[in-house]
Amino acid sequence: MFRIAPSILSADFARLGEEVRDVIASGADWIHFDVMDNHYVPNLTIGPLVCEAIRPHTEAPIDVHLMVKPVDRIVPDFAKAGANLISFHPEASEHVDRSLALIREHGCQAGLVFNPATPLAWLDHVMDRVDLVLLMSVNPGFGGQKFIPGALDKLREARVRLDAYEEKTGRRIMLQVDGGVKADNIAEIARAGADTFVAGSAVFGAASTDDPHRYDSVIGAL
Ligand code: DX5
Ligand code: ZN
Repeated sequence: MFRIAPSILSADFARLGEEVRDVIASGADWIHFDVMDNHYVPNLTIGPLVCEAIRPHTEAPIDVHLMVKPVDRIVPDFAKAGANLISFHPEASEHVDRSLALIREHGCQAGLVFNPATPLAWLDHVMDRVDLVLLMSVNPGFGGQKFIPGALDKLREARVRLDAYEEKTGRRIMLQVDGGVKADNIAEIARAGADTFVAGSAVFGAASTDDPHRYDSVIGAL
């Protein structure tokens, strides 16, 4: 089961509700919601208010990627604003296990995000609290960056770990990749083991018309 999660970071913010509706109507599965605080990453984007604003425009899961430090304080607000899944960077949390538990206590699925240089060892003692592993194939902070090829080996390593965990527990943890995913590399990324794909500029970068089907071909190509 492959899921496409367009990142609205590259969408037209002057008509965000329409962008969300149309990209899901074109076949996307989730909405990837990039939160940046200009502290943990050198950029500033959107918060719970915008999540609340887009919530009525789609039934699709809103996948909130927190690039913020600290993590815990903002979790309840995103849960209240309609987030379905909240993922965060372990380096940005004082207590990773507690942050994962907090996300689930607020009714959301919990994800752990790994920057290109962040070792998978952060998973060692929290696998039971994780619903999704997100591997960054760019350094976080901006859309439109180039895919870092080294991410493929890390994906393969993560796939082996998650398959072994599923074998043992019967519980599947989703494996998401984020950054520089395009139509010409997504097949290789899928072969390396990802099942959920974030794509920002590959999706929203192309279209600029008012045609409600403007995303059909680009989503179909992924
Ligand atoms: C980067 C974000 C990504 C980014 C993806 O920090 O987490 O989700 O928006 O954009 P593209 O697909 O253009 O690399
Ligand atoms: Zn992201």
